[in-house]
Amino acid sequence: MCGIFGYVGKRTDAGTIAIEGLKNLEYRGYDSWGIACTAGKELTVSKDIGPIGGIRSEDFSAPCSLAVAHTRWATHGGVTQRNAHPHLSEDGSIAVVHNGIVENYLELRRDLKEKGHTFQSETDTEVIPHLIEEELKKCGDFAEAVRNACLHFDGRYAILALHTGSNMLVAARTGSPLIVGVEKTDGVLNGYFIASDIPAFMKHTRIVQYLDDGEMVATDGKMIRFQDIKTGEVREKREISITYHIEQSQKGDFEHFMLKEIMDQKESVTRAVNQDEGEIRTIAEAILRAKGTFLVGCGTAAKACMAAEYFFSVVAEHHVNFAPASEFKLFHHFLKPESLLIVVSQSGETADVLEAMRIARDKGSKVLAIVNVEGSTIDREADYTLLINVGQERAVASTKALTGQLAVLLLIAYAMGERLKEGRTLLLETASTINDMLNPRFVERLEVLAAKIHKNENLFIIGKSWNYPMAMESAIKIQEVSYVHAEGFAGGELKHGPIALIEEGTPCIVLTGNDEALQDILSNAQELKARGAFIIGVGPTKFDIFDEWIKVPDAGSAQAILNIIPIQVLAYFLAVKRGKNPDMPRNLAKSVTVK
Ligand code: F6R
Repeated sequence: MCGIFGYVGKRTDAGTIAIEGLKNLEYRGYDSWGIACTAGKELTVSKDIGPIGGIRSEDFSAPCSLAVAHTRWATHGGVTQRNAHPHLSEDGSIAVVHNGIVENYLELRRDLKEKGHTFQSETDTEVIPHLIEEELKKCGDFAEAVRNACLHFDGRYAILALHTGSNMLVAARTGSPLIVGVEKTDGVLNGYFIASDIPAFMKHTRIVQYLDDGEMVATDGKMIRFQDIKTGEVREKREISITYHIEQSQKGDFEHFMLKEIMDQKESVTRAVNQDEGEIRTIAEAILRAKGTFLVGCGTAAKACMAAEYFFSVVAEHHVNFAPASEFKLFHHFLKPESLLIVVSQSGETADVLEAMRIARDKGSKVLAIVNVEGSTIDREADYTLLINVGQERAVASTKALTGQLAVLLLIAYAMGERLKEGRTLLLETASTINDMLNPRFVERLEVLAAKIHKNENLFIIGKSWNYPMAMESAIKIQEVSYVHAEGFAGGELKHGPIALIEEGTPCIVLTGNDEALQDILSNAQELKARGAFIIGVGPTKFDIFDEWIKVPDAGSAQAILNIIPIQVLAYFLAVKRGKNPDMPRNLAKSVTVK
């Protein structure tokens, strides 16, 4: 949440670089944006509300070699130009961008006001440059002033500060991600980037250095120094070359990243399935051996965890426990050193998941991470990581990450049942079915269906077995991009309350498979139909009860992976038909780094 970008070095187009970098970080927040850049003593600041997408980077081409920039997901203070970052010190020489929350900002603000500081915004962030300014007066060294200021802050944050006087960038993190990009030409250093995410500077360099929690970094473009925030002790950092490609993060011919990423599933599931068999077997054995396995994730990733409960039960006859990561704290009594926590996360930065990992580690339990973003905090902090390899996911609504997570979890379930080869074959067949299924006629049918139902304000989805978490996931997808009130239920639960919501013509999606749950879910569909619902069946077989049928090939125990895909497409077109931008759903941001 919130995207941070900074540059210092030999280049004189830091403003243009920063705006371009921000555009690649916009998925982290798009309430407002801002930039501060300087070529020497003068600081130029521009900020505004709304997304940065339409801003021309050429408008920031005045020569400068030091810049910080920010795209905001508001926490403290409304979405106004004044509250947009960067925020400045009293004397205007220090500019700060910030991701996270300074929990004790009211107290700090009061103390600073007593010292004569004036505040322009309602944000927690604004205390940061003012406090750094006070510390700078005492010690005269910008990096040390930032470090001393950080010692006063409570909460989880990432900050990036520039100072015109010393021509330096200083960044610090205690919870939100920050990565340094090192730009060299023929081995000669050009400068440094500091950002919330690698794609922000990937166009310029593939050499990175990661900041860990509790660390800070200071650079003037020629030297760089990493330190522990608390002790000031200098830390050595390795330069790491990243391997994935920038093309994966571009929209290409698609109007929206969401549709592009849905289409990426034609080949991303194959990449997720192509795991090292030895590694999958080792993980399967670890789960079978563990005294208690817990699966946690948030949102869509949590639905993958829920589906895995069914995979492990049906395919491997092995019980595991699931909790949304934000609820996991309450189950810590059951963790032992021999327990295993499996965390599932696309971004690898979700605050609630990181907290669950820390709880598990405090109990001495091991953590297996199933993540998409290599080098993310969850990847680096886990005892063992399995990458789903689906490429960068930029749309806020998670699509290809989910099918990658489901594929990997089902593969593990097959390995646990000593049927790894069978599972791999099934999943590779399913992946190739996705390629056939996502043809123009299929997509067009869903567009027509969206046009038919897009004026309905309520929509319900039911499923049973692994289709139950997919019903819940369908609801998330539809809610977040189209703002239709959608809810997903276990089919059998309807008659215990939710059925009261059904009226004549209410669209109800019924997720089916050729499995033992089929007859039950069809009975549930009958109960809906009897109350006037408009039934949209999704699955391999057409039944008379369906008013509309979205044909999805039979995939056996991988049916959940196929069934969710038409719902992703439907959600996308519901958003478009309702005039919403599916890539920028209101109130949301990708990578939820606050609790
Ligand atoms: C919904 C969505 C979110 C994420 C959730 C967890 O489409 O994307 O619900 O699934 O915020 O994010 P990660 O997987 O990055 O931990």
